[in-house]
Amino acid sequence: MSDKKVVRAGITAVAHFVPDEVVPNSFFESYLDTTDEWIQSRAGIKERRILRNGATSDLAVPAIKKLLEQRGIAATDIDMILVGTVTPDMLFPSTACVIQEKIGATNAWGFDLSAACSGFLFTLETGRRFIESGAAKKILIVGADKMSSITNYQDRNTCILFGDGAGVVLLEPVDEALGIRDSILRIDGTGGEYLHMKGGGSLNPPSHETIDKQMHYVYQDGKAVFKRAVIGMADVSAEIVERNNLTKNDIAFLVPHQANLRIIEAARERVGLTHDQVMINIDRYGNTTSGTIPICLSEWSAAGKIKKGDYLVLASFGAGFTWGSILLRWAF
Ligand code: UT7
Repeated sequence: MSDKKVVRAGITAVAHFVPDEVVPNSFFESYLDTTDEWIQSRAGIKERRILRNGATSDLAVPAIKKLLEQRGIAATDIDMILVGTVTPDMLFPSTACVIQEKIGATNAWGFDLSAACSGFLFTLETGRRFIESGAAKKILIVGADKMSSITNYQDRNTCILFGDGAGVVLLEPVDEALGIRDSILRIDGTGGEYLHMKGGGSLNPPSHETIDKQMHYVYQDGKAVFKRAVIGMADVSAEIVERNNLTKNDIAFLVPHQANLRIIEAARERVGLTHDQVMINIDRYGNTTSGTIPICLSEWSAAGKIKKGDYLVLASFGAGFTWGSILLRWAF
């Protein structure tokens, strides 16, 4: 029998940053055919944050600086920077490179990963594998999006949903009993027609025509995405609990992607959790895409609500379609 020790990847620090500027629902009421009541009842959002000047890296860097200080390590201690985002500062160089330069992480390599609202989960799973293989010891997993840069503020179907924000976790090798235990990650490209941004890539390079056709904005068929998300996120949340022989009582928190309160509620009910077992901040930040899950983790951790050893289920659904869940035990 092999006595090789299992290397687990665990979250050992977490931080977030949201810009100061608050945009309440009343802003949209002032110029669009919408109401605060509609937005709150259909999506669960009261307000969101917007970054006027700056890019996605400007959301990520303050979060990372807080995290490094909290963990008491230097940027030069970081081996890898992985960034989940659909709003990179530029198509290239990667936002990982931009961040690496801005924080002075001179010993790190890294890259961006595109999985829309599942960006943080896909990036976390990728980082997990580098830790488990022994290839890296300290990885920054960043979920950051400046959604205001691709939002059409004349489209009431989408503009009320999104906000800007960033969260970051540090992944390190941890005790065998802690850290990331399991993951279920899925994609289905047939969902692309319902949620996309068609302009700006190699298919439709920027041109006067792509601008005139407003192809550089998020397009969403909300109802179609809702139908798939409500089932997809609930299914993977329940499946990961069941296949690890856990019950609802073993789970300290469900940490769902914050796209719609009704989608979150369906996942909560499916796993059989109480309201206290679910992290929700969509009312204050809207949908920050890759940012939602690490921002939740950061807020609940800072409030002292997560204890070492707690079981957490992270779950998401987004453009692609991309979706999934990760089961972990909190490591600090
Ligand atoms: O994070 C990535 C994944 N994204 C998601 O998971 C989002 C999934 N979708 C949703 O969350 C919901 O579909 C929305 C919140 C986007 C919309 O809620 P809904 O209950 O599905 O509304 P709907 O799209 O079916 O629209 C119902 C009505 C429509 O009017 P008609 O056609 O019934 O006359 C819309 O035009 O509400 C209208 N509407 C609005 N009314 C007032 C759409 N947006 C607005 C608005 N204010 N802002």
